[in-house]
Amino acid sequence: MKIRIPATSANLGPGFDSCGIALSQYLSIEVLENAAEWKIIHSLGSDIPSDATNLLIQTALKVAPDLSPKVLKMTSDIPLARGLGSSSSVIVGGIELANRLGNLNLSQKDKVQIATEMEGHPDNVAPAICGDFVVASYVDGEVHSVKHHFPMCDVIAFIPDMQLLTSESRSVLPTSIPYKEAVQASSIANVMIAAILNGNLPLAGRMMEKDRWHEAYRKNLVPHLEQIRLLSHEMGLYGAFLSGAGPTVLILSPEEKTDEMVRKLGKLSISATIHVLSIDQEGI
Ligand code: HSE
Repeated sequence: MKIRIPATSANLGPGFDSCGIALSQYLSIEVLENAAEWKIIHSLGSDIPSDATNLLIQTALKVAPDLSPKVLKMTSDIPLARGLGSSSSVIVGGIELANRLGNLNLSQKDKVQIATEMEGHPDNVAPAICGDFVVASYVDGEVHSVKHHFPMCDVIAFIPDMQLLTSESRSVLPTSIPYKEAVQASSIANVMIAAILNGNLPLAGRMMEKDRWHEAYRKNLVPHLEQIRLLSHEMGLYGAFLSGAGPTVLILSPEEKTDEMVRKLGKLSISATIHVLSIDQEGI
């Protein structure tokens, strides 16, 4: 049995803790055989446990405590702590593992609810489960989410060679913002979503760059964002924004401009990996 979970990018600028897209990088989990104890074969680094303390197995056992141990193989091309949903992919993988091994028949809605309760916000886990573009709210303990097709474009991921933990990137956020500012921030997010639904990427991209919820507070942690955004403007691309809690920056680009943008990004004096991704439409 094999499970494949896409990388994700949360927020899309103003859709903080609510909007996300699924991307074409994946965590893959394969069940190899029964065993006396849980074991994960992987080459993701010595920091990642290969026994039952791994988040994948911990999650699966929370959902289905009676699962019998297996040997699993785990591979991933989602970089860790870069704002591309690596930990969410493991949580979603654990839920789906429990679902399939335990024959739980969880619906997509059930999975999104369980994963959001574990993660605390739905903007990575919901697109990882459903694929494509998902808008979700998590209020009064209940998740409501809507999946919609994201307009066709290339997604350039500029992934700096540095890790940024979500906890650190959230620690710089304010505990409250003035009412007027919240109304503006919400209107920007609303227009962004409506523009995506209309297939209007130029307008959606402009709104993505006007976020008022989080990017300004995080700018010292991600000094490269402004530089990349200027380059994106020079090139006439749709928009550049922090992927999740960073440090990755995503740039939405019309296909014909992507190669040149990648060349220009490669000349910046910031150590980084650049990938051209597409939207994953399926999820798990
Ligand atoms: N919405 C979250 C944040 C995504 O920006 O902190 C990262 O987990």
